[in-house]
Amino acid sequence: MHPTLTTAVKAARRAGQIITRASQDVDLLKVSSKRQNDFVTEVDRAAEDAIIGILREAYPDHAILAEESGASGESEYRWIIDPLDGTTNFIHGMPHYAVSIALEHRGQMQSAVVFDPVRNEMFTASRGRGAFLNDRRIRVSRRAKLSEALVGTGFPYRVFDHVDAYLGMLKDMMEKTSGLRRPGAAALDLAYVACGRFDAFFEIGLSPWDIAGGALLVTEAGGLVGNLTGETGYMESGNMVASTPRIFPVLLATIEPHLTDALRA
Ligand code: IPD
Ligand code: CA
Ligand code: CA
Repeated sequence: MHPTLTTAVKAARRAGQIITRASQDVDLLKVSSKRQNDFVTEVDRAAEDAIIGILREAYPDHAILAEESGASGESEYRWIIDPLDGTTNFIHGMPHYAVSIALEHRGQMQSAVVFDPVRNEMFTASRGRGAFLNDRRIRVSRRAKLSEALVGTGFPYRVFDHVDAYLGMLKDMMEKTSGLRRPGAAALDLAYVACGRFDAFFEIGLSPWDIAGGALLVTEAGGLVGNLTGETGYMESGNMVASTPRIFPVLLATIEPHLTDALRA
C-alpha cells in the first residue's frame, strides 16, 4: 500500500472510533446548524481534528481542505477531508455514514479512503493501482442497461434553486431504471458504485469533500465520473454523475433534457 494511503487508513479508523463511540448515545449530542438543514455536531469536529492530527504528523508540509475547519497550508499536495459524511443520518441514529479522506496532487486525485465504521467497510484506491474493499479488489458492475440499473442519488436539501430540474430527472429515472435510493451519504453512494452495489449515481450541489475520495474509487474500479454533461469540473460545480462505462451515455441522455444553463456549466 502506498504510504499516503496507509496514513489515510489510519486516520479514517481513528475517526471511525470517535464516531462509533458517540453513536451509542446520539441523544447526548450537541447539534448546531451551520445553515438551514446543514448540521454539525461535536463529533464531526472531533473526528476532523483527529484526522488532521494524524495527517499533519506524517505530512507536515501538505495543504488541507476540511469540511469543518476549511483550507490551510500551501502545497502541490492537498488532503480533502469529510470527517463524517451523512451527519443527518448520524444525528437520527440511522446507521449509514462514513469518513472520507482523499489526497490530491496538482489537482489530480492520488489516494482515497472511504470508511464505513458501522459495517467496518474500508474502501481504498490509489491512482493506477485499482480500488479495494477491505483489501479485496472491487470493480463496477457489469450492467449495461439503465432499465436494469439501481441508481443512487441525493435530494437537494439546502439550496432549492434546481429542484424543478432535479425532479424532472428523478421522474425520468423512476420510469427508466430498476430502482432509486437516497441513502444520505454521498461518499458511500460513490463507494457503492465502485463495488457494484449501485450501477449509477447522480446528485446536484455537492461539495469537494463529499466527492473527492469517491470519485477516485469509481474510476479505479473501472467506472466513469463527470459533471451533468459528462465532462470534468464536477469538483468545482458539485454536480456529478458516476456509473459503469456502458450506462454512462444513457444516464447523461436521461439527464440532458432537464438541464438549465446553470446546470450545464
Ligand atoms: C451530505 C451527504 C448527503 C448529500 C449532501 C451532503 P454531510 O454530507 O453526503 O448524502 O446529499 O449533499 O452534503 O453534510 O452529511 O457531510
Ligand atoms: Ca458530506
Ligand atoms: Ca460532513
